[in-house]
Amino acid sequence: MKLADMPTFPLAQLPTPLMPARNLSAALGGPEILIKRDDLTGLALGGNKTRKLEYLIADAQAQGATHVITVGAVQSNHCRQTAAAARLAGLNCVLVMNASSNDPDIQGNFLLDHILGAETRIVTDKSQRQPMTLQVEEELKEQGYVPYQIPGGGSNAIGAASYVAATYELMSQIIDQGSSPTRLYTTSSASGGTHAGLALGAKLAGVPYAVHGVSIERPVDQLKSIITPLANQTAEYLGLDIRLDESDVIIHGDYTGPAYGVATEECLEAIRMCARTDALLLDPVYTAKTMSGMIDHIRTGQIGSDETVIFLHTGGVPAVFADTDSIIPAMQVPGI
Ligand SMILES: Cc1ncc(COP(=O)(O)O)c(C=O)c1O
Repeated sequence: MKLADMPTFPLAQLPTPLMPARNLSAALGGPEILIKRDDLTGLALGGNKTRKLEYLIADAQAQGATHVITVGAVQSNHCRQTAAAARLAGLNCVLVMNASSNDPDIQGNFLLDHILGAETRIVTDKSQRQPMTLQVEEELKEQGYVPYQIPGGGSNAIGAASYVAATYELMSQIIDQGSSPTRLYTTSSASGGTHAGLALGAKLAGVPYAVHGVSIERPVDQLKSIITPLANQTAEYLGLDIRLDESDVIIHGDYTGPAYGVATEECLEAIRMCARTDALLLDPVYTAKTMSGMIDHIRTGQIGSDETVIFLHTGGVPAVFADTDSIIPAMQVPGI
């Protein structure tokens, strides 16, 4: 289906701003840093999932769904935004979430899921998510409902297409602002829809920047083997001839830390620096790890002080309320 013909359910405040982070640039001795504020997409505190859900919810409606079911970790931003999108569309929402206990703290995103009134099913092992999802689907069908499954992270061809569209939005801002960015930094995750859409969009639109992903989980090779085919499925879905190979997908693997969701010292520094320079709030799971990679590339001269770089802020701030044990001590440092 052509991108322009994809049905959308309106959820997002677009275009999101492309804003300079002047104080952060100065603190790092250049380059010019532009922040693409997808944390301001709207929809229950915003984030990158809003764009994907505009297409996914429209598809659910086209299929006559009564319920959406999706999966994630208990602090999933995707789950929180899916719960919000379902409310706006008049759909019911079931979230199948993995947590370390059956009774996780009701805080951060999980608190917002409760406020939004989503039904939540907790499993204590990620491998139980799929069987639980199938069980929920069966239960709903037996009751005569029509469930629609949204994949983890909203990352299929339909969701990833939203970041092809976002590329054109960004290009128009770059042209309007007369800037020539050399790099765009984004989070690379194992769902991968944002990076896949951006990489495809970059190739299609002939952008001036290279898309640089920073892994927040899993080794680089594994992520490439997820993101490259997803970009190609998206190209196929959109009826495009263009295809990517793994060399089109740049991912940095040095900033992940010990595991998904475990804050690194560098990401805590990024949270502190961004907040104390340009009042930019980052989260310890996704955006701060990505920012820690970009900061390191600036400090080590991989990005020249005369360059312009874009950081895609994908949201996720509610997670700070669920990780105060890591964050509070790291904020005791005076200055930036
Ligand atoms: C704040 C934030 N940034 C980035 C991502 C990664 O996006 P994607 O799932 O498209 O790879 C997520 C995914 O949940 C997220 O919540």
